[in-house]
Amino acid sequence: MIFNQSFSDFNNENHLWETPQLSEIEVNSYLHFVQRIILESGGLIREGYYRHKEISRKSGRELVTSADIASEKFLHSQISTTYPDHKILSEELSNSQATDVENLWVIDPLDGTNNFAHDFPFFAISIAFVHRNNLVLGIVYDPLREEIFWATCLSDAYLNGEKIAVSSAKELSESILATGFPYDLAPDTENNLDNFIDFSYASQGLRRAGSAALDLCYVAAGRLDGFWELKLRPWDMAAGALIVKKAGGIVTDFSGNPWQLNSDRIVTANSDIHSQMLSIIGK
Ligand code: IPD
Ligand code: CA
Ligand code: CA
Repeated sequence: MIFNQSFSDFNNENHLWETPQLSEIEVNSYLHFVQRIILESGGLIREGYYRHKEISRKSGRELVTSADIASEKFLHSQISTTYPDHKILSEELSNSQATDVENLWVIDPLDGTNNFAHDFPFFAISIAFVHRNNLVLGIVYDPLREEIFWATCLSDAYLNGEKIAVSSAKELSESILATGFPYDLAPDTENNLDNFIDFSYASQGLRRAGSAALDLCYVAAGRLDGFWELKLRPWDMAAGALIVKKAGGIVTDFSGNPWQLNSDRIVTANSDIHSQMLSIIGK
């Protein structure tokens, strides 16, 4: 288990968004592999949702369930069997922080664990693949709605086979935004409550649904006009960041710099809403 760790070791140069030196055949073969394993791990999570749940506490507000572990073990075994040389960075079991690795899988086996544990039906699995510091693909699966969002470095963004795009909203005052809060809400003054108040006044409404990966995909699909959050981890954001970018969104940190794997904060929206969000965050 890793929490409060720094990802400052990640390559901080702006390679993440460059197109990797992989052929279309290679990219598609990774995509088909992940599409298969994410659907299977979604099946495990769905089964776990309707059964008695084994829940334990990682820290004050943060939970982990047997479904998180089952999903992650399954994904690890599939990846290490198929690609034995690849490294995995995932939330519960593996903390590979090696930099400049040739091939890295970034996995959240269950994003929205507190929702899952409380029978609130909004959670997903998030998997990204990075080759030589270039983001190759991102895929997010909501196992209850059976919605699969994905994009690759060579494609547009899709939801269940249909192309998706960010909203065309022009004004923040007419936008619905989403965010989330870190688990260490109380002991840290950097808890996002100030932004929450500011955006409550500036927008048409805020949502805090509890899965950053799905929030990002909802921006990609135009269901939300924007999303911001701080103190997130690479596995919360990596897949969704690519999906929303390929759906036409801008994806940056709070300073407006392109989002990187070691960015712990993210702002994303179409370009009009994004610039209005940045000016509120920078206030
Ligand atoms: C959490 C969710 C939540 C966000 C938290 C994350 P987890 O991930 O994405 O929406 O607000 O900061 O940690 O713990 O459910 O995988
Ligand atoms: Ca997460
Ligand atoms: Ca998780």
